[in-house]
Amino acid sequence: MQSTGNTILITGGASGIGLALARRFHSRRNRIILTGRDPHKLARAAASLPGAFTFPSDISDPASVDTLCDYIATGHPGLNLLVNNAGVQYAYDFQTTPDIVSNIAAETAINFTAPLQLTARLLPQLSRQPAAAVVFVSSALYIAPKRSAPVYCATKSAIHTFAKALRYQLEGSPVKVFDIIPPLVDTAMTANRSSGKISPDQLAAIFLRLFENEVYEQHIGKARLLKLLSRLSPALAERILRNG
Ligand SMILES: NC(=O)c1ccc[n+]([C@@H]2O[C@H](COP(=O)([O-])OP(=O)(O)OC[C@H]3O[C@@H](n4cnc5c(N)ncnc54)[C@H](OP(=O)(O)O)[C@@H]3O)[C@@H](O)[C@H]2O)c1
Repeated sequence: MQSTGNTILITGGASGIGLALARRFHSRRNRIILTGRDPHKLARAAASLPGAFTFPSDISDPASVDTLCDYIATGHPGLNLLVNNAGVQYAYDFQTTPDIVSNIAAETAINFTAPLQLTARLLPQLSRQPAAAVVFVSSALYIAPKRSAPVYCATKSAIHTFAKALRYQLEGSPVKVFDIIPPLVDTAMTANRSSGKISPDQLAAIFLRLFENEVYEQHIGKARLLKLLSRLSPALAERILRNG
């Protein structure tokens, strides 16, 4: 895929991995649209990306997704790249944490249902472009889960599997399907982890190189090692990750 001249919508683009991807694409003369729930965060992010557009939305709210898609259809008809990056991670224990039902619903909606619905809504527009792509951000935790965040890990396994099946469906169409499989990355989501993280910018640099080379499943950094290890010794891979 060309990494210049695209029109790109990035969910969760105001921070962390989404913002790092936005910066990389912006430096290569792409038209960037950032979305997320917090308009102040979006404005701060856009201030460092001259010419970038922002549109606040909550991707877990179907009405908000409708408004976002209407804005994209009218304001950015040339959209050819959707980056489904927004996500949340909640730690809870099914035996001891009270009132987890709403957490389960929110985490599943944001991490899994919303990217699928947004993709479904924007696919007709993407398909009209000569070259287009949908990018998902799963996680190395699809390979082996950690005990502290069972729903998060399950949503990331699901998004990984979905991306693969969608790639099969779209073979022969102009729309390519990428899956970024990050290791631990230094963002707000991992603020409680002190070591072993790569920076969002390191991840974005690797992603862009693999994107240009049409590598669709991108196991990055330690995620590559984990994938290899899980083939050699699934039990060891699971042991390493379970208390992470
Ligand atoms: N950091 C890691 O180690 C790591 C590893 C593997 C995968 N990932 C994945 O990478 C992606 C980005 O995470 P990150 O680490 O960069 O964390 P982050 O800095 O917390 O970014 C998450 C972004 O998602 C947005 N978001 C959350 N809920 C949303 C909603 N309902 N609607 C719209 N936007 C929403 C947030 O903005 P608002 O709060 O303003 O809405 C925020 O900008 C996630 O999918 C995560 O699962 C991260």
